[in-house]
Amino acid sequence: MDTFELDREIAHLAVLQRTELIDPKLRKIRKLFGRYLFSNFFSKYFINIKKVSKNYSEIMQIEYNSIEKFMKPNQNILCIGAGIGGLEIIINQQFLNNTFHFIERNFISKKVRYGWDTKNSEAYNDLKLLEKFLILNHLKKNNFKIINFDLDELPTNKYNLVTSLYSLDFHYDFEIYKNYLKNVSTEDTFIIFDTIRPDYFNQIFKSIEILKTENDTVHRSKRLACRGFIN
Ligand SMILES: C[S@@+](CC[C@H](N)C(=O)[O-])C[C@H]1O[C@@H](n2cnc3c(N)ncnc32)[C@H](O)[C@@H]1O
Repeated sequence: MDTFELDREIAHLAVLQRTELIDPKLRKIRKLFGRYLFSNFFSKYFINIKKVSKNYSEIMQIEYNSIEKFMKPNQNILCIGAGIGGLEIIINQQFLNNTFHFIERNFISKKVRYGWDTKNSEAYNDLKLLEKFLILNHLKKNNFKIINFDLDELPTNKYNLVTSLYSLDFHYDFEIYKNYLKNVSTEDTFIIFDTIRPDYFNQIFKSIEILKTENDTVHRSKRLACRGFIN
């Protein structure tokens, strides 16, 4: 398996987006110096870029395996909160002619905290760096578009697939996107996301498949593939 190309700034984002990438030494530093210094300084300058690249590539390969059966060529894919987009790079390596629309945010919280955020005030991305990572890893410019959740109009296409790993209904309420997703999906669109309250979705979707169960204390959640809004 090839590892991703990334520079220090992109590796910094990956570490903030994926807590598994924080090694034990950095975890100790976060405890000692607090979240502000960790988010803005240590997580950027105290990382080994090669190691982050290798670990991030391996994690994303495992994530890809969990949703592989929904992949095929020529799909319109909507990615909500994709982080720096490692999953999409793997999809692009496996299948031709997919187009990707990324809805993301363009700021890094001063003190990154993980967990449910009722106001959806947390984010850890930089849209310039997202674009840089995608291009460095051979996703062609014509095959993707990046949409700023806070500033841009959301696209009105119909999508074959929506992916949102550890973002929608993991950090913030599904309701924020519910009506939008109704408009951009069809009866055949699969919407894949990780949620901390899987039963809630029995009243929203006609069909739900559980793809993964995470019982880890930080990531206590289920990955669902949902299809067909009930109304
Ligand atoms: C924990 S990270 C997960 C990133 C990536 N999906 C992964 O699995 O590595 C959550 C992501 O959601 C993004 N985010 C937060 N609020 C969002 C919103 N309202 N719309 C889209 N993305 C959002 C954050 O900026 C961050 O990149």
